[in-house]
Amino acid sequence: MINKWQREEYTISTDQARLDFEVIHDFLTNSSYWAVGRKPETIKRSIENSLSFGLYENNRQIGFARVVTDYATFAWLADVFVLAEFRGKGLGAWLVEVILAHPELQGFRRWSLATKDAHEIYRRFGFSELKRPERWMERRDPLTEESPDYWAEEKSRDEG
Ligand SMILES: CC(C)(COP(=O)(O)OP(=O)(O)OC[C@H]1O[C@@H](n2cnc3c(N)ncnc32)[C@H](O)[C@@H]1OP(=O)(O)O)[C@@H](O)C(=O)NCCC(=O)NCCS
Repeated sequence: MINKWQREEYTISTDQARLDFEVIHDFLTNSSYWAVGRKPETIKRSIENSLSFGLYENNRQIGFARVVTDYATFAWLADVFVLAEFRGKGLGAWLVEVILAHPELQGFRRWSLATKDAHEIYRRFGFSELKRPERWMERRDPLTEESPDYWAEEKSRDEG
C-alpha cells in the first residue's frame, strides 16, 4: 500500500515508482558522508528492499529516507537526507515524524540508526545513545566499505 502525506507544497510518499533515482544516487555518492562511491546497482537494490520514503517539493524530489524492517520487531532508519537548499525548514523532522508514525511500522521493540552529527533531530523523537553498547557488535568488510575518507578519518580517531 502506498502512503502519502501533504504539507503545503511538500509531499512525502512511499511510492517507489515516484522516486527520482538520479537525485538519490547523486546525493548519496557525492554529498553524503556515509555512502560516497556506493554503486548505482547497490543503491537500487537497497531501495527495492526497503520501505523507502521520498520527500517532494511539488514534483521535484528534495529528500529521502528508507527503513529496513521485519515489520514485526525492529526497524533501521537509513540514508536520510534533505537537499541542502531545503534544510532548516522542518522538513527533515517532518520526514522522521511521518516515518515513525507509519501504520505498518508500529509496536517494534527497537528502532536503530547511525549518525555522525544529527543526534539532536532524532533525540526529539525518542532516540538516544545505546543504553548497553557492550551488547552491540558489528562486522565490517573493508573490501565493501564506502566513503573511504570518512572511514580513514574514523580510523585515525580510533587510533588517536
Ligand atoms: C539531517 C537533515 C536530514 C535534517 O534536515 P532538515 O530539513 O534541515 O531538518 P529540520 O529543518 O527539520 O531540523 C530539525 C532540527 O534539527 C536540527 N538539525 C538538523 N540537522 C542537524 C545536524 N546535522 N546537527 C544538529 N542539529 C541538526 C535543526 O537545527 C532543527 O532544530 P530546530 O528545530 O531547533 O531549529 C539534513 O540536514 C541533511 O540532509 N543533512 C545531510 C545528510 C545527513 O546528515 N543525514 C542524516 C544522516 S543520519
